[in-house]
Amino acid sequence: MLRTTTRHLAALRHVAQPVVMRQASRASVYKSVTLLSRPYATSNNKVVPLTAEKYPGFTRNDQFKKLTEKDVDHFKGIVGESALIYNNEDDLAAFNTDWMNKYRGQSQLVLKPKTTQQVADILKYCNDQRIAVVPQGGNTGLVGGSIPVFDEVVLSLQSMNSIRSFDDVSGILTADAGCILEGLDNWLNEKGYMMPLDLGAKGSCHIGGNLATNAGGLRLLRYGSLHGTVLGLEVVLPDGSILDSMSTLRKDNTGYDLKQLFIGSEGTIGVITGVSILTPRRPKAVNVALLGLNSYDDVQKAFKQSRSELSEILSAFEFWDNNALQIYKKHSDAKPLMESEYPFYVLIETSGSNKDHDDEKLTSYLENMMVDEVAQDGVVAQDETQIKNIWSVREGFTEALGKEAAVYKYDISMPVPKINECLEDMRQHLKDGGVFGQPDSPIIDVVGYGHVGDGNLHLNIAANRIDKRVPELIEPYLFEWVAKQNGSISAEHGLGVAKNQFLSYSKPEGMIKMMKTIKDLLDPNAILNPYKYLPSK
Ligand code: FAD
Ligand code: MLT
Ligand code: ZN
Repeated sequence: MLRTTTRHLAALRHVAQPVVMRQASRASVYKSVTLLSRPYATSNNKVVPLTAEKYPGFTRNDQFKKLTEKDVDHFKGIVGESALIYNNEDDLAAFNTDWMNKYRGQSQLVLKPKTTQQVADILKYCNDQRIAVVPQGGNTGLVGGSIPVFDEVVLSLQSMNSIRSFDDVSGILTADAGCILEGLDNWLNEKGYMMPLDLGAKGSCHIGGNLATNAGGLRLLRYGSLHGTVLGLEVVLPDGSILDSMSTLRKDNTGYDLKQLFIGSEGTIGVITGVSILTPRRPKAVNVALLGLNSYDDVQKAFKQSRSELSEILSAFEFWDNNALQIYKKHSDAKPLMESEYPFYVLIETSGSNKDHDDEKLTSYLENMMVDEVAQDGVVAQDETQIKNIWSVREGFTEALGKEAAVYKYDISMPVPKINECLEDMRQHLKDGGVFGQPDSPIIDVVGYGHVGDGNLHLNIAANRIDKRVPELIEPYLFEWVAKQNGSISAEHGLGVAKNQFLSYSKPEGMIKMMKTIKDLLDPNAILNPYKYLPSK
């Protein structure tokens, strides 16, 4: 029975409007991230500081050879003159700086091989000559992993971008590592399939980069991690040998599953050149709803109930707090999605094969949320544009935050009930530290959003100026807090140069030792992506 006040009835009508969905998914309407070419200058014309100078503790490893003209000539012989950028600051800039304008390297050479054999020839030479190499995909990583620290050669996979094969009975796709995720998803769309992963950077990131970072994103709740969907990999090892495990088998219990080692290895033990991946059917009916809620307790209730009521059709459950919305509004002229504002929002997506069935389930779930006063307001997208508008807010936080003078980004996982406690604790800690809460404080706000259904919080601290006290207050405080909850200091973005020194907060000594042993075994000269991933001591 409806137990509603007039306000609730009005809100309920709002969500209970018939959902008119065409056969489309949000995948086709995502905004792409555009990578701007900037010769080391940020949008407000500040020069991006060199990583090696900004972050203490980096010293160039003198075992690495400095490039000579002879080396460059050798590389020309492998890839050809047009597939190489050498000593040209303007052209090198896009490869030496990251998406956030936070990390800056000093590479003088970018190589763009077109074949696996060229990658193998490059690595063999680099290994023999002790030339350090940084594999680079779409350069959208958020932990500085794709950017050289000193003069490492950048090995860009951008010219290896062909689809190799597709089996439309099993849905198994094989492709080059340099294929852009959105390109693959669009290509599969024509065949009634889709990629099992999706993220805001899809217009620029490569499938190879996704594999190297074990990217999570917006579909993990439904389709699981890449450790499950990837069937095979082609990898070039640092000595130039090609490890071909491009299996297209779903079942294969013959020996160690070596490909798993490379998923999430961030370019430190091999260069991924090809992938075989299981792709799901593109759902025929997709719905997106947005709820406004008064408390984080209500977010959890909404999640718990969505798993029980929407169960097999639930494909995403994302959340954000009102602080995230405020930063988004500051940098966007998009119309508000709801009349009033609430402390928390959840985005719920359903994907299924029967529209009437899904509509009925979603409507019933939303009604229950309103009647039980879990949600205060709600909207359901009526068409593709509205789906896009709702997703644009969720996907717009990264870019909006990037427009602030400084942002300290954290990507942590923990038990779902702890997520808001983490945000509140950090706010209090920064207030106690004297950097937040006063009119002249450097910190604007502590912002929370993320894949709450996966226990993954993106905690972002936005500041109006650089203040040395801020990072000192956050780190290692936050990592200690996360470790106490048995959480992870990097849920999906990886370690790169941002988190490698803090690995022990998430992994015991014995595991770190074994990781170092694996690194030494596969890359004894340590030429691949040095100064990153594993702690230096
Ligand atoms: P790059 O940034 O080029 O490289 C990342 C790392 O992988 C580096 O260490 C690099 O050396 C290594 N690498 C790249 N290609 C290869 C290769 N072929 N072989 C071996 N090593 C390689 N991440 C998420 O997990 N979930 C999200 O929801 C998400 N959303 C994002 C939204 C925005 C707006 C942005 C800017 C980023 C987001 N990210 C997200 C982070 C980033 O997009 C992912 O980490 C992505 O997987 C990186 O892919 P890339 O091709 O850009 O890799
Ligand atoms: C996201 O989920 O939006 C991405 O991981 C990027 C970010 O954390 O800002
Ligand atoms: Zn994310």
